[in-house]
Amino acid sequence: MAKTLVTGGAGFIGSHLSEALLKNGDKVTVVDDLSTGRLNNISRFRSNNRFSFYEDTILNKRLMKRLIKDCDIIYHLAAAVGVKYIIEHPIDSIKTNIKGTDVVLGMACEFGNKKVILASTSEIYGKDRPGKHVFSEEDDRLLGSTTRSRWSYSCAKAIDEFLALAYRREKRLPVIICRFFNTCGPRQTGRYGMVVPRFIRQALSGEPITIYGDGKQTRCFGDVSDAVRAVLLLSKNPKAYGRVFNIGNPENKVTINALAKKIRSMTHSASAIKHIPYAKAYREGFEDMRHREPDISRLKSVTGFKPNIGIDDMLLNIIKGFKSDD
Ligand SMILES: NC(=O)c1ccc[n+]([C@@H]2O[C@H](COP(=O)([O-])OP(=O)(O)OC[C@H]3O[C@@H](n4cnc5c(N)ncnc54)[C@H](O)[C@@H]3O)[C@@H](O)[C@H]2O)c1
Repeated sequence: MAKTLVTGGAGFIGSHLSEALLKNGDKVTVVDDLSTGRLNNISRFRSNNRFSFYEDTILNKRLMKRLIKDCDIIYHLAAAVGVKYIIEHPIDSIKTNIKGTDVVLGMACEFGNKKVILASTSEIYGKDRPGKHVFSEEDDRLLGSTTRSRWSYSCAKAIDEFLALAYRREKRLPVIICRFFNTCGPRQTGRYGMVVPRFIRQALSGEPITIYGDGKQTRCFGDVSDAVRAVLLLSKNPKAYGRVFNIGNPENKVTINALAKKIRSMTHSASAIKHIPYAKAYREGFEDMRHREPDISRLKSVTGFKPNIGIDDMLLNIIKGFKSDD
């Protein structure tokens, strides 16, 4: 039985990961300040006697010291997340995403070189460039101006990656970096700009489904159960130490227009589909990517991973989750 610490474990991916770890027989401790996470996400397993929950911030060094000393492996998922949240809370977002990771990596090293699985993001790759849709781990990054606060998320996560790789090189810390592409599933909230839960909520309530921009942009949506499986395979594999891995599902590629139509039909909704200019949807001049697709060949070759869940099954499962929340 491994003693695991999951930061951000009351969030969307963190709660699914915690549940999977408990199923594996591990002990799970979660620290989460509930800024975007919810107690409801952990209610199914909160009474498990191998689970404990601390409502607190990862910036609380005294608590983190105690929790990291006492664990074997840290899954570091706590972060300010979501384009809307980052734009509306720029100071806290930068602090959590840089200082929080500094605390986790520094203490993991200090208290016995504990294994750290670090959640990063496809935002790392930044903007579109002509003719390039598929991104692999060693690709260059292309970012916008510092006056556009959405890029602060990409930069903060890049600093996290640099720091993790530096701890690997200088201190031999066993770290693995997981660059998640759009990940969806039950429990994800649409409040902070995530498109799938937002469309489903709008469709189920009969409100217009609102597409930002012309809707011709494409995304690949991976199911959270596949993402969690990939993380667990990586975490058991020493060949993954000191390396970066894309995690996503290139087969689930769809335009945002097609996604809206799919969700409307699967929910039997009569909602209208409306297009809103980015400038109206967000507070400031906004830049979005037209296309972003993961190259997961490194993940496949190191772990044998293959995504299992197609887009229709993924959406049906999320819709079912929404209905049972009513
Ligand atoms: N869902 C995706 O599509 C996606 C894509 C790329 C990267 N990621 C990364 O995966 C991780 C999990 O994201 P998610 O989608 O589950 O989002 P989420 O918002 O549901 O999870 C983040 C969790 O961290 C918690 N948190 C934030 N600041 C904290 C702090 N200072 N102290 C303690 N807890 C704090 C939040 O309350 C929340 O529960 C994040 O690191 C995110 O950057 C997710």
